[in-house]
Amino acid sequence: MPAKQRTRFICQNCGHLQPKWSGRCPKCGEWNTLVEQVEPRASRAARAGLLSETVVEPTPLPAVAAEGQKRIPLAMGEFARVLGGGIVPGSGVLVSGDPGIGKSTLLLQMAAAVAETGRRVLYVSGEESAQQVKRRADRLGMQHENFYLLADVNLENILAQTQRLQPGLLVVDSIQAVSLDALPNSAGSVTQVRECAALLLRLAKTENIPLFLVGHVTKEGSIAGPRVLEHMVDAVLYLEGDSFHSYRLLRSIKNRFGSTNEVGVFEMSGRGLSEVANPSEMFLAERLPQAAGSAIAAPMEGTRPLLVEIQALASTSSFAQPRRTANGVDFNRLLLITAVLSKRVGIRLSDQDVFVNVIGGLRISEPAIDLPVALAIASSVRNKPVAADLVAIGEVGLSGELRSVGQLPRRLKEAQKLGFKRAITPRLSKRRGALEGMPEDMELIQTRSLAQAIEAALTP
Ligand code: TYD
Ligand code: MG
Repeated sequence: MPAKQRTRFICQNCGHLQPKWSGRCPKCGEWNTLVEQVEPRASRAARAGLLSETVVEPTPLPAVAAEGQKRIPLAMGEFARVLGGGIVPGSGVLVSGDPGIGKSTLLLQMAAAVAETGRRVLYVSGEESAQQVKRRADRLGMQHENFYLLADVNLENILAQTQRLQPGLLVVDSIQAVSLDALPNSAGSVTQVRECAALLLRLAKTENIPLFLVGHVTKEGSIAGPRVLEHMVDAVLYLEGDSFHSYRLLRSIKNRFGSTNEVGVFEMSGRGLSEVANPSEMFLAERLPQAAGSAIAAPMEGTRPLLVEIQALASTSSFAQPRRTANGVDFNRLLLITAVLSKRVGIRLSDQDVFVNVIGGLRISEPAIDLPVALAIASSVRNKPVAADLVAIGEVGLSGELRSVGQLPRRLKEAQKLGFKRAITPRLSKRRGALEGMPEDMELIQTRSLAQAIEAALTP
């Protein structure tokens, strides 16, 4: 029986496959994203030809070496922190983020740092010419020894050159730019991205070379191409920040070799990205201590507490429906907090526009910032400043109660380090050990309800 040529339709947004065309992807709901593809039979053949097969046999678990290889140390401490401490040989890491945010800069610097330790590094640039990369490298003051540059988009060649050079680190910038000639699809299409990534990752595993892939994001903020890319790699890092601020956050969204939600903080300057040793200090640098409508929060970013200022402004609305604007905090969370303030605390907001802003353009999704958000709003409405030496930590419940949050000692220690003397917190449980690890000379104002917390915070 002759093999039938199978035709399928693949969503360019999420990678969903189906046998029939439709105007809208049933999985992700995007319109006009389904593209016909002929089953890429060539890819298997291509793979078989490009990489030699190694046969792996099952091993009894006790015989498996527990500690595989040591991590490659990385002189960029913030980057290493996000990776879980150094680079794991043979691992595949996807670095994504908005265009122009600094992915190429970050990876160039990281690659240079690795090259400096004597390892050979191959940096594949599919988007910028060799001259452009060289100029940037010069500007960043990079050493060029052990650093090899390949400005190419042809994956067959990239694989061949990698096998020839045997680098200690491979960077491909970006996965959307490279393509396999054996496939009919254009570069950046789901099929190309998936097949190219699969081949690169296989090479990384078999040759034990750590691989960093740059991946673009779509305007919706998800990594372009199939979701499967995220599943294929060992770690997904996301570089974020906004174009009006110089700092950048590197987050790990997935990490098979370390904890997720770890954050590294960098600052973009004329000489590339530099590490920020004390991020809280940077976020609080421009704060006016006696201004109404400002409160200090201590959210956890990964395993590290950060101190940030939250500002609120309530002003009489000229609309029938007063406006609520949230920058850096969840909009629905803000609605909940304003509702609790109106209903449980008696602060009238029905004729007030309310704006809330996290300073520095940071985005925080932790309930522990409920209390500082509520305090900032109350402070603006009453036009009384929150005491300058006060940090506020706690989740607000629908009955107006304050709920406890995790990792209180670590947050308080960070606050103390920055000179804060008092903290408003939810009631601590009477359980033994509840106070364990709390900084000693910090005054804790334990409150049961949001109303009590507001009274405590706004009285000088
Ligand atoms: P880039 O790394 O090219 O971003 P991406 O690869 O994510 O698209 O960074 C581009 C921006 O970074 C660009 O707007 C200029 C800025 N930049 C600096 O401010 N200082 C520097 O030293 C470098 C190299 C870039
Ligand atoms: Mg780039």
